[in-house]
Amino acid sequence: MGKYRDDPAAIAALIQEEQVHKDVYIDQEIFDLEMERLFARTWIYVGHASQVPNPGDYITTDIAAQPVIMVRHTDGAIHVLMNRCSHKGSKLVSQPSGNTGRAFHCPYHAWAFKTDGKVLAIPARNHYEGTSLSESPAMKGLVPMSAVEQYRGFVFARISEDGPGFKEYFGDSLSSIDNMADRSPEGELEIAGGCLRYLHNCNWKMFVENLNDTAHPMVAHESSAGTAKKLWEGKPADTPKPMAIEQFVPFASGYQFFDDMGIRIFSNGHSYTGVKFSIHSSYSSIPGYEAQMVKAYGEERAKNILATARHNTVYYPTLTIKGAIQSIRVARPIGPDKTVLESYTFRLKGAPPELLQRTLMYTRLINSSMSVVGHDDLHAYRSIQEGLHCSGNDWVSLHRNYKPGEDAPDDQVVNGLSEIPMRGEFRTWARYMTAPAIKPIAKPAANEPARATAKGAV
Ligand code: FES
Ligand SMILES: [Fe+2]
Repeated sequence: MGKYRDDPAAIAALIQEEQVHKDVYIDQEIFDLEMERLFARTWIYVGHASQVPNPGDYITTDIAAQPVIMVRHTDGAIHVLMNRCSHKGSKLVSQPSGNTGRAFHCPYHAWAFKTDGKVLAIPARNHYEGTSLSESPAMKGLVPMSAVEQYRGFVFARISEDGPGFKEYFGDSLSSIDNMADRSPEGELEIAGGCLRYLHNCNWKMFVENLNDTAHPMVAHESSAGTAKKLWEGKPADTPKPMAIEQFVPFASGYQFFDDMGIRIFSNGHSYTGVKFSIHSSYSSIPGYEAQMVKAYGEERAKNILATARHNTVYYPTLTIKGAIQSIRVARPIGPDKTVLESYTFRLKGAPPELLQRTLMYTRLINSSMSVVGHDDLHAYRSIQEGLHCSGNDWVSLHRNYKPGEDAPDDQVVNGLSEIPMRGEFRTWARYMTAPAIKPIAKPAANEPARATAKGAV
């Protein structure tokens, strides 16, 4: 028994209004409890429907540090299933993506499962006669998520039966996904350009908090964005601005710029920066695109969609999106000091190809750990992870622009430099982490394998 598992008061004591205890970032037991109580009970982004366009297409990932498969069934429905053979537990597939045809075949003893999770075939079946196999969990097939929702192609799942409804959990923060999809003249997105996937040697919260920490770019990115800014200064006004300069330079903006951007926060830890404008607001227009948008949506609506250029939206706890540049980053925690970061880019269906080029360039220049900007952040995350092992100060400060009673109302807009997003994330964290133990993962009742379809489908 550890120090926190059976002591909600000890967990609650880690979160104060304006500061949090370092154990939330470095303690193994806290990490294990986060997976059980926060990640299993909230809505976690799995993948985008466009990654599995055809029956049998699948992707694999982790939710709450458990391997899962997202797969397109023969009837077109998307299922999210535990990547665990119901025989002896082998993962069924190890590839990040592929097409499995009509069934998954376990690589160990060749049990076969339909793409809705039901058992299809068991070799040497006659050797099970007279056993209780048919009543056992083994015959129930692949365990489905308790709940799966698809929102404009974004597939989210909740492992536990115990948790909030989808709309209740995300509320109006879904408007950021809407804005990204609405930027397509057809209103649809499609994953394009593969995935940048990196192991970060830091806690998942370092990354998620950093997204809306607007007091770091002018410092941490001074060496990269600041250099680009200096290189460009003094160029004649009519010099065509390269796309890279357009994307780098706003990171070197001062405190006032980021403060004026504004932050909007929602219940349950969600937030976005860039309420009034953002580092993406001044990108040059792409020939033909605005005309396409006006044709699709009408002048006023097209103008509103394009003028909404939010910086980062955090869908707590793992999905972060940049609608204005059509990219997302997803944190997949695997240990207190290990997080896999996935970075994806989208094509706006029906839009000029230059928009995808702009997205791909941004992801390489800014989001990649091998880029000059991304590794500034990665260095900071790892530095914090190591620094927090120092004794003498157990607390991490989140005091910036704190105001007593700031948690009500939950949907509010404040100045951009405020650390209110992190404080909101930790209030949510404490609520889930101190709530009573969760119910076990939902399993289909004996002889009721059809439930996998009913509950796991979208
Ligand atoms: S572990 Fe999968 S068939 Fe035996
Ligand atoms: Fe950064």
